[in-house]
Amino acid sequence: MYASLAKITRHNGGSFWRRNPSLRSQNSSDYGLTRFRSKPNIVEDGTTWLQEIVYLICNDFDYEKAQATTIEDRFPFLEFPYPGVKVVAQSPPPRFIKTHLPFSLLPKQLDEKKPKVIYIARNPKDTAVSLQAFTKMINYVTFLGNMEDFAQLFVEGTVFYGPWEKHVKEAWDRRDEENILFVTYEDLHKDFRGTVQDIARFLEKSMSESQLRALEVHCSFSLMQSNDSVNYSWQQGVLFGEGQFMRKGKVGDWKNHLSSEMSDKFDAMVTSLEPSGLHFVDS
Ligand code: A3P
Repeated sequence: MYASLAKITRHNGGSFWRRNPSLRSQNSSDYGLTRFRSKPNIVEDGTTWLQEIVYLICNDFDYEKAQATTIEDRFPFLEFPYPGVKVVAQSPPPRFIKTHLPFSLLPKQLDEKKPKVIYIARNPKDTAVSLQAFTKMINYVTFLGNMEDFAQLFVEGTVFYGPWEKHVKEAWDRRDEENILFVTYEDLHKDFRGTVQDIARFLEKSMSESQLRALEVHCSFSLMQSNDSVNYSWQQGVLFGEGQFMRKGKVGDWKNHLSSEMSDKFDAMVTSLEPSGLHFVDS
């Protein structure tokens, strides 16, 4: 992640970004990427929501176990130094990894070992708004522009993990591979139960109606927002400054933040994906 930030700073001549100089770029080998063997959970936005769902499905709905450890420790973040991918190798299966990297930047072992991968995509307008809020909250990089500036960089493909359409298209093109599942944030909103049942089937797990009902309640936005094992409150005053990681959790909040001219630019980006059969709803 830090390496991406360094790249962004160069792209924009430092005009919008200020990076905390005490944080240095990491080399991919620092994370043991060459020995990648585990069960990753590839994600883009809506990650934490999906992670909690996957963890509980794969751990027999053991809520106490989920509560006892933060989501950050339950799913080491591939491209982040803490807790480090090395801890994955030491943990008993099933193992989980979170990453925001696009498929093309993942280790080759993905194609050899074929771990199960769940990719979650979100409409780009809400993704941009959420990412800008996140950027304002983290204290290891400072964005000096406003929402419109950030959205413009998003459209140009120069914010973290961009270009968005390339990232999403790479995953979409692989959606029919047997070890890959593509879901959207909007699917989870519109049909939580159906989407969770698809996820469970993909993970080769079954669940009862009452387990599904309990999961739906547990994973509601308000309960996750106040759940200290998933809401990143432990990062408050550490990596995060002012703001809330679990911000609004809505589809369509972009309407409060983006101009109609900017919305058109995002629509053009989404339209460019539609010949591939990929569509997004954003309200
Ligand atoms: P907003 O900033 O729009 O509120 P990620 O986990 O990939 O960083 O994604 C964060 C986004 O997912 C945030 O969006 C957050 O509020 C939202 N989110 C997290 N848990 C959620 C839940 N249970 N229901 C709906 N949205 C959720």
